[in-house]
Amino acid sequence: MKQLMKLSVNGESYELAVEPQATLLEVLRKVLGLMGTKEACGTGECGSCTVLMEGRPVLSCLTLVLDCADQEIVTIEGLAEGDRMSPVQQAFQDTGAIQCGFCTPGMVLSATALLEENLRPTEAEIRKALEGHLCRCTGYNKIIEAVNKAAGQMAT
Ligand code: FES
Ligand code: FES
Repeated sequence: MKQLMKLSVNGESYELAVEPQATLLEVLRKVLGLMGTKEACGTGECGSCTVLMEGRPVLSCLTLVLDCADQEIVTIEGLAEGDRMSPVQQAFQDTGAIQCGFCTPGMVLSATALLEENLRPTEAEIRKALEGHLCRCTGYNKIIEAVNKAAGQMAT
């Protein structure tokens, strides 16, 4: 039987009736139409479905939406301000860290969470923050470069 809940996503509050076993990923994509959060493995292996919950990266494919009540969720759609991309989004674009783009929303959100905590991360810290994210296209070096570039811009 469906249960009523309130869900806050990108600053908007929603009242929803959800199945108890519904994942956050299913609700974001199929109910709210926020398709920027990607679904790939569906089993916690790839990081494509990462969103921020109270500022921390979580795998939305493994998170029950009922566990998100009263938590602030941020998806990739919530990062830009109007037409202006966030510094991390801009750095990914500028450095060529995006190829097919499937891993990009999750990578950008985890990098954003890292830089909220630490504006001068070492390469090891960046790699650690992104270790749950698989990218089949870029070889990762451009992604590390993008996070470093964003950190430099945000620190000034
Ligand atoms: S779709 Fe969630 S970790 Fe792969
Ligand atoms: S850019 Fe294609 S999976 Fe990362």
